Amino acid sequence: MADEWLARWREGRTAFHEGRPNDLLVRHAAHLAGSRRVLVPLCGKSEDLAFLAACGHDVVGIELAEQAVQAFFAEHDLTPSVAPHGPVVAYRVGPGMVRPAGPATSGAIALLAGDFFAVTPELLGPVDALYDRAALVALPPELRPPYMARLRALVPAGAPALVITYEYDQAAVGGPPFAVLEAELRALYAGAAVELLEERPGGLAKCAQSGVSVSERCFATRLPDPRP
Ligand SMILES: C[S@@+](CC[C@H](N)C(=O)[O-])C[C@H]1O[C@@H](n2cnc3c(N)ncnc32)[C@H](O)[C@@H]1O
Repeated sequence: MADEWLARWREGRTAFHEGRPNDLLVRHAAHLAGSRRVLVPLCGKSEDLAFLAACGHDVVGIELAEQAVQAFFAEHDLTPSVAPHGPVVAYRVGPGMVRPAGPATSGAIALLAGDFFAVTPELLGPVDALYDRAALVALPPELRPPYMARLRALVPAGAPALVITYEYDQAAVGGPPFAVLEAELRALYAGAAVELLEERPGGLAKCAQSGVSVSERCFATRLPDPRP
């Protein structure tokens, strides 16, 4: 699994990279308003990182492919500090380094290059909110419960979360990105309210080629309590 993602980055097979902030995030970022530090797991080199920082949030992303982390900073003309940090490598720039979206100063950006499942709360530091686009849906079904368990350890219960999923006929088209149906999302976030904010036709080439309809869905929820 890890090797496949690293190969995708090496070979430029990164159609998931949108190259601009996700429209659903832009329209629903208010759900995260007031949160100081936002976790973006499996972040790639997403423009969503810069967008969230421009909104004034401190942003912490976790990404397996160090190549993607380096590309993010290079593409934004940013020179991060780089330091080993336990099992990951931390790339950081301070606040005020991206153009702010409003009167507030843009937030700091820290990208941890390494395995999400190796990141502990001590390594990550405090976070106040979660933004998940193309992270949950990047994982096969058997990795989703461990992914949620790790999120529950990293993000406090009650913290706001924006989660973007795809829904399509998984029997007709394989992942990634995988289809994560609303019922599964509700089960993963059991104990928290889950509200569908918006859905729109999803632009997945593999679905289009197979004539399978796909919707991209944006949910507002909160982190449930950690499992005992
Ligand atoms: C579908 S991409 C989405 C990237 C980003 N969220 C976006 O919206 O463009 C999934 C990303 O997760 C990364 N990834 C996969 N497994 C990971 C893991 N265990 N730890 C950290 N990153 C991982 C991959 O390298 C890839 O960049």
